[in-house]
Amino acid sequence: MSKVKIKGTTKITGVFGYPIIHSLSPVFQNSAFEYLNLDFVYIPLEVKPKDLKKAVDAIRIFNWVGINVTIPHKKEVIKFIDELDETSKILGVVNTIHNVNGKLKGYTTDGEGFIRSLKEDGKFNPKNKNIFIIGAGGSSYAICGALINEKINSIFITNRTFENAIKLREHIVTKLNFKNIKIIEFEKRNEQTIWENIDLLINTTSVGMKENDPLLIKKENIEKVRFVYDIVYNRKTELLKTAEKLKIPYLNGLSMLVYQGAISFEIWTGRKAPIDIMKKSIYEKIET
Ligand code: ATR
Repeated sequence: MSKVKIKGTTKITGVFGYPIIHSLSPVFQNSAFEYLNLDFVYIPLEVKPKDLKKAVDAIRIFNWVGINVTIPHKKEVIKFIDELDETSKILGVVNTIHNVNGKLKGYTTDGEGFIRSLKEDGKFNPKNKNIFIIGAGGSSYAICGALINEKINSIFITNRTFENAIKLREHIVTKLNFKNIKIIEFEKRNEQTIWENIDLLINTTSVGMKENDPLLIKKENIEKVRFVYDIVYNRKTELLKTAEKLKIPYLNGLSMLVYQGAISFEIWTGRKAPIDIMKKSIYEKIET
């Protein structure tokens, strides 16, 4: 349990979301502040969509240092802040706001959080690798963009709604200027030939969050990959259970959650985030 002491000097950070009660960010951010003896606090802030502008005004009025922005505000919030980093501009989303003398700068740390998690926790370097991604939602956009920055070789994307996969391909080819991408119809995702050279399999969908959710990729295909990443973090998914049985290294979304938060922490405090402390606090809270 965090023992953050609030004083007149305490710098305030937090998260805007709706709903917010399940957020794990206050747990690991406050543990990190406490560990480094920083005079900061992180609070959950429930913000209804209709109140988002007023909530952003409050950042300026109360001079809060930093705010994370989560579902459903990541796109909408852009309208109300002053400046965007390159990734936020490309993706059209913000998950971190930094208040510098009343000027609000937006960042998006999900993609970089994913990469740091993959490299540091997973000891897997995506450079020159062939990647198979399930999903074409917001997380997939962030992860694809970050992987392309890491000089991967190729991406295969499948998605339940093919039209969304087409849109993602368009984004990758035109905005990110990456051509070695193939989209695969959902019904054809298990065709064996696709799987001959895949190094890394990533699930970016919510499939796996519920107990009876199906395994979307056949075991004989999973068997061929070298690393499995599932961004779901509330339970060990069928995908991760299968990877474990096959002795394939894997990570779940808790790792990405902590690293994306760690990058926010570093933006706000200018200090290196104590990753191990953050992880420990969260693993104590959640059983995986
Ligand atoms: P996020 O921001 O977390 O990525 P999102 O933008 O709502 O969330 O995207 C959710 C992703 O999970 C999408 O790729 C979605 O597929 P559709 O484009 O077909 O909606 C995928 N998804 C959600 N439920 C799914 C299911 N039951 N089976 C397969 N894919 C699913």
